[in-house]
Amino acid sequence: MDLNLPVNQALQGLRMLADAKDIVIETRLASDLPAVDGDVGRICQLTANLLANAIKFTPRGGRVLISTRPVSHRGGPGVELTIDDTGIGISPEDRQKIYNRFYRGKQRGTEGEKGTGLGLAICKEIVNHHRGLLEILPNEPTGTSVRVWFPACAADGETSSSNVQTICLHTARANCA
Ligand SMILES: Nc1ncnc2c1ncn2[C@@H]1O[C@H](COP(=O)(O)OP(=O)(O)OP(=O)(O)O)[C@@H](O)[C@H]1O
Ligand SMILES: [Mg+2]
Repeated sequence: MDLNLPVNQALQGLRMLADAKDIVIETRLASDLPAVDGDVGRICQLTANLLANAIKFTPRGGRVLISTRPVSHRGGPGVELTIDDTGIGISPEDRQKIYNRFYRGKQRGTEGEKGTGLGLAICKEIVNHHRGLLEILPNEPTGTSVRVWFPACAADGETSSSNVQTICLHTARANCA
């Protein structure tokens, strides 16, 4: 699967939400991504949750940048999706708890935005299911930067990150024997 497919689907669904708050969404989607072995519907749901958060927790007139690019992790090829916003950011106290079901942060600045506090818990499950990585960091100079990484499909002559781990495990066992 080309990761840009579910990303574009999520973007289409949420543009109106951004327009309503005069938030500009900038996209930088690389055209040379390795294929990811993923579920289009679930990755669209993940992207929509993250994009909805970026829009919700960014005051009127802000910016959101969504990008995809090929990135290797621990020797395995893959694709990185990043969503950067210029919003209210996440306090260090909240950052410990935001993946907990029903947790909603205490940061001021976008009062009135509604939610259940389930979005990030669901995102974490989707990323784990795809053997990916999810990281939420402060964006400079302000806002939040979310990075998601997915391993590329194992193709002929190539090795996916999960295969790298399996090979390492076998190697480690062989070395112990
Ligand atoms: N981009 C972001 N900027 C600032 N705070 C964020 C951002 N994304 C998440 N958060 C904080 O993390 C909390 C948990 O996020 P989560 O998506 O799980 O819940 P929600 O958006 O409040 O509700 P739901 O997603 O269920 O509608 C949010 O309430 C918010 O405090
Ligand atoms: Mg949310």
